[in-house]
Amino acid sequence: MLVERRVRAAVLESFRSPFKVVETTVRVPEDWVEVRVRAVGVCGRDLVVWKGGFPNLRTPLILGHEVFGEYEGVPVSVFPGLSVEECRRAGGECPGYAILGEHVPGGYADRVYVPRSNLIPLPDRDYRKYAAATCGVATIMHASSVAGIRPGERVLVTGASGGVGVHGLQYLINLGVEVIALTRSEEKARILEGLGARAVTRPDFYREMGRVDAVLELVGARTINWSMRALRQKGRLVLVGNVTGEQVIIERPALLVMREISLHGTAAFTPKEWRSAIQVISRGIIKPFYKVYDLDEINEAYEAALKGERVGRIVLEP
Ligand SMILES: NC(=O)c1ccc[n+]([C@@H]2O[C@H](COP(=O)([O-])OP(=O)(O)OC[C@H]3O[C@@H](n4cnc5c(N)ncnc54)[C@H](OP(=O)(O)O)[C@@H]3O)[C@@H](O)[C@H]2O)c1
Ligand SMILES: [Zn+2]
Repeated sequence: MLVERRVRAAVLESFRSPFKVVETTVRVPEDWVEVRVRAVGVCGRDLVVWKGGFPNLRTPLILGHEVFGEYEGVPVSVFPGLSVEECRRAGGECPGYAILGEHVPGGYADRVYVPRSNLIPLPDRDYRKYAAATCGVATIMHASSVAGIRPGERVLVTGASGGVGVHGLQYLINLGVEVIALTRSEEKARILEGLGARAVTRPDFYREMGRVDAVLELVGARTINWSMRALRQKGRLVLVGNVTGEQVIIERPALLVMREISLHGTAAFTPKEWRSAIQVISRGIIKPFYKVYDLDEINEAYEAALKGERVGRIVLEP
């Protein structure tokens, strides 16, 4: 049975338009539990949704899958993936998978309702650092396992200053991977070098540095052809995201053929990876990069996020 719950949320009424922060009603299964949101990250995925890049989604939407807060006063995170069964119980239109903030109401709100089994305890109440880094680290854990990335390999990360890139590359460096971080600005390159990456702003870096074993392609259409040129024979390219939502065109298919490059796609992460990401963040292995905005300032926050000038995540606090 569905019940009505009142939340104060940032509602996206139509794509590419400002959010409205309002008191509104969400309909959720009766047995879903209430989490008081303390911090929620603005994922690059949310920006793609905002642009209308996921044609299956319909507005109005309450976005937000990087949710950290309190359940009965205890600090928790919410695992963002929902079983199709739970999603259907919530009355959502669910494809083969369901995500908080897309198929059911998400965390750009003062409270969120989720299945009890999606709660994962947090080691401390520093909600901001988890909102900044958990999705990025878990995403890169999953992508690097899909690509079979091993210590000692040389891996290119594109869009390296974003929330996934800057946190995920720290995880890789800690594993003993040699990370080449491709970013658009010299200023960001200096910050990424400070984390132990070899930062590059020119796509033909491999002429001087040599080719890479694998690429974690976070940008998609705008950089994927550079990434393929940088790959060695039998290299692996993992497509993690496509920030502009444009069609991806392979300019030189012969490269793919002659170098026997393998292409992988990677979607999200497992609950185990989400837990591991929380552990490495809590141990201080990952330096979190973020800027905090009040939920009421969400439109200002989105303007900043879409400009892409910052390193790391934007974190909203209700
Ligand atoms: N598959 C998954 O499981 C998964 C999970 C989370 C996110 N994602 C996807 O991964 C991608 C990155 O996510 P994110 O959270 O890191 O996003 P983000 O924080 O918005 O960062 C994206 C980065 O991409 C680069 N970039 C942005 N626009 C660009 C353009 N027009 N041309 C070239 N580079 C551009 C920028 O890095 P520089 O300025 O350093 O170049 C920017 O910081 C998104 O597409 C998101 O949907 C996928
Ligand atoms: Zn995310």
